Amino acid sequence: MLNGKKIVLGITGSIAAYKAAYLCRALIKKGADVQVVITPAGKEFITPVTLSALTHKPVVSEFFTANDGTWHSHVDLGLWADAMLIAPATAATIGKMAHGIADNMLITTYLSMKAPVFVAPAMDLDMYAHPSTQHNLELLKSYGNHIIESASGFLASQLEGKGRMEEPDTIVEILERFFAAQQQLAKKKIIITAGPTYEKLDPVRYISNYSSGKMGFALAEACAERGAEVILISGPVQQKIHHPNIQRIDVESADEMYREALRFFPEANVGILCAAVADYKPEHYAGSKLKRQNGEKMNLSLVPNPDIAAALGKLKKPEQLLVGFALETDNEFVNAQEKLKKKNLDWIVLNSLKDEGAGFQGDTNKITIIDANGNRKDFSLKSKKAVAEDIVEVISEKLNGENDHA
Ligand code: PMT
Repeated sequence: MLNGKKIVLGITGSIAAYKAAYLCRALIKKGADVQVVITPAGKEFITPVTLSALTHKPVVSEFFTANDGTWHSHVDLGLWADAMLIAPATAATIGKMAHGIADNMLITTYLSMKAPVFVAPAMDLDMYAHPSTQHNLELLKSYGNHIIESASGFLASQLEGKGRMEEPDTIVEILERFFAAQQQLAKKKIIITAGPTYEKLDPVRYISNYSSGKMGFALAEACAERGAEVILISGPVQQKIHHPNIQRIDVESADEMYREALRFFPEANVGILCAAVADYKPEHYAGSKLKRQNGEKMNLSLVPNPDIAAALGKLKKPEQLLVGFALETDNEFVNAQEKLKKKNLDWIVLNSLKDEGAGFQGDTNKITIIDANGNRKDFSLKSKKAVAEDIVEVISEKLNGENDHA
């Protein structure tokens, strides 16, 4: 999977830089085209001569070549690469990346990078565990970077703990898996609904629910990373998208979400309906703010919203796949199965508010995937990113003809 891939290998000032020579060689042996960018501190640990001998390319370190003034374009490198890998990444470089402190060629290259970025931290265990390092790593994740977690073991400080750069062979495997996954949903179009809907009552109030959009956005990123073209139809949320293959369409009400879903579904291979759509909306919208009525009761008349999942289930062609979600509080499996049948879905992803850490708002979820034959697959509590990957794995296996049940 690495054959012909263009990799910018960023090397920073850590003792683990000695492993970068092996990493470089392992990438090249797999057929990758490697361009090294090294920080000034990185050169204290490994020489550019070693690296340029391995890559057959001059190593980039400064903005200009001192003797002839040649300018090294970080912008061109950002456009050239299929991936950037920063290994080893020190706490200082991670901090600069997190805060955009562009004081060396490696950081400017990172800031110009159009391709996915992988970061393999390497440092002493206390530096790694420090809240500022952990916060910066979280920031990098939130920008869409891939963190290759440090391993535990014997450190240069003679201490033992977490902070070692992951082994070069494992890093190469991670890159290979990433590029292999990118092909899985290539040329597939997937529509995803996410977040809550707002059903307006008057100019200052609405009916809604607690959905944050995290689950739906994680699904969109997971599909895009596997090469799909994603249309993400989202209710009002604070989430951000990172992948260029995602087209985001913001809506507010169930009616708007319904219109957009119907517009895009006919061209899609898959629909994933993760939004927590309000089942009802106020019958009348009050043009001006409703006033308190001297302590009297207020009756609100609600009318049903369109059921997006059921409408797409009716339109679904045999070659299309439709995945719904069921958020339940009791009688979970039976309720979820009923929804799957009623809405003509291929799978329903059950999450229950009875499970701690599952459902709305948090960063984790616990799901069961149920197929149209009633087969179920239970998953443990995981990050919403990992849950999204499990769901997308089931979908891509089906699309690639690899399984017939959940
Ligand atoms: O956004 P997060 O904070 O990360 O939370 C994630 C989540 C809990 C919202 C998500 O995991 C989830 O369960 N989404 C579905 C919530 C829901 O509304 O479930 P439901 O059982 O009411 O609906 C069943 C299915 O029909 C869902 O696929 C829903 O999108 C769809 N539906 C429901 C009503 C409607 N009018 N139109 C629909 O398409």
